[in-house]
Amino acid sequence: MAFPKHLRLFEMGARDGLQNEPGPVIDTAIKIELINRLSETGLTHIEAASFVSPKWVPQMGDASAVMTGIKRKPGVTYSALTPNLKGLEEAIAAGADEVAVFGAASEAFTQKNINCSISESLERFAPVIELAQASNIRVRGYVSTVMGCPYEGEIDPAQVAAVSRELLDMGCYEISLGDTIGVGTPMKAKRMLEAVSKQVPVEKLAAHFHDTYGQALANLYAVVEEGITVIDASVAGLGGCPYAKGASGNVATEDVLYMLNGLGIETGVDLNKLAQTGHWITQQLGRTSGSKVALAIGCQ
Ligand code: HMG
Ligand code: MG
Repeated sequence: MAFPKHLRLFEMGARDGLQNEPGPVIDTAIKIELINRLSETGLTHIEAASFVSPKWVPQMGDASAVMTGIKRKPGVTYSALTPNLKGLEEAIAAGADEVAVFGAASEAFTQKNINCSISESLERFAPVIELAQASNIRVRGYVSTVMGCPYEGEIDPAQVAAVSRELLDMGCYEISLGDTIGVGTPMKAKRMLEAVSKQVPVEKLAAHFHDTYGQALANLYAVVEEGITVIDASVAGLGGCPYAKGASGNVATEDVLYMLNGLGIETGVDLNKLAQTGHWITQQLGRTSGSKVALAIGCQ
């Protein structure tokens, strides 16, 4: 299959990137400045916050302040995670342009992450999707553990396909497939996508790969070859998974962009501005960048 001409990058740094950051809760002002800087890079989709229980995820406890504090750049969609109606109502009040429900292909992961079974999670999402749609807000659906689970190990691609299809049928406009603990490899990614795309058109799928084992770029190349045109990534490779030892974050947006530029696939994103933003946030957090490209071009 030929590569696409355009591809949409969905920036995860401010949400997936920061949600598990160890240490004290990051200042709201830093989160806002990160999003404002990301907005100037050409990115069109930025996940800005997560309206979840602050007891479960303390780093996202200031979601309303972040969402209302950012400078909205026209043409940029600012989204947020909303696991239930409480989260959705707060996200709407704070002006989220788009929201997302998040489930998983693994029962055990669903229990650990959102404290319910897969079928209960879908029941819980139904009124969230309904109210969002009635409020003219698009809903994205995440499916986690698509290539492996920290508790159940191997995950059947048919199970990923089934949960993805349910979310699509319930009204999600796009399903993001999460290799939450970054255990996938390219052939596995292709097989998983092949199973899912029998149930959900590939144009409605996104790849959300973490880089724990250094496989994310290879896995992305494999699924882009199979028709994926939306990639979730995190500036400076920010993030981690509390459930996976040694887990690094989402694949670094800079690294994905460098690869896409080399393949001649347009994203509209400026690599230097992005790398500078990655440099800025890693300095604020006192950590080094997880992006190889940032290191290579001197933005570390
Ligand atoms: P629960 O304890 O079953 O829910 O948690 P509950 O309804 O019994 O509520 C418990 C408490 O939380 C109550 O407060 C609620 O008011 C409060 P209390 O009475 O004890 O003071 N609460 C809330 N507070 C603020 N906002 C809300 C909210 N809902 C309840 N929306 C719940 C269920 C879903 C809330 C909880 O499990 C939770 O917040 N989980 C979040 C987990 C999470 O954020 N994980 C990370 C995101 S997913 C991810 O990273 C994967 C992804 O990147 C893709 C991939 O990589 O695979 C998307
Ligand atoms: Mg993730």
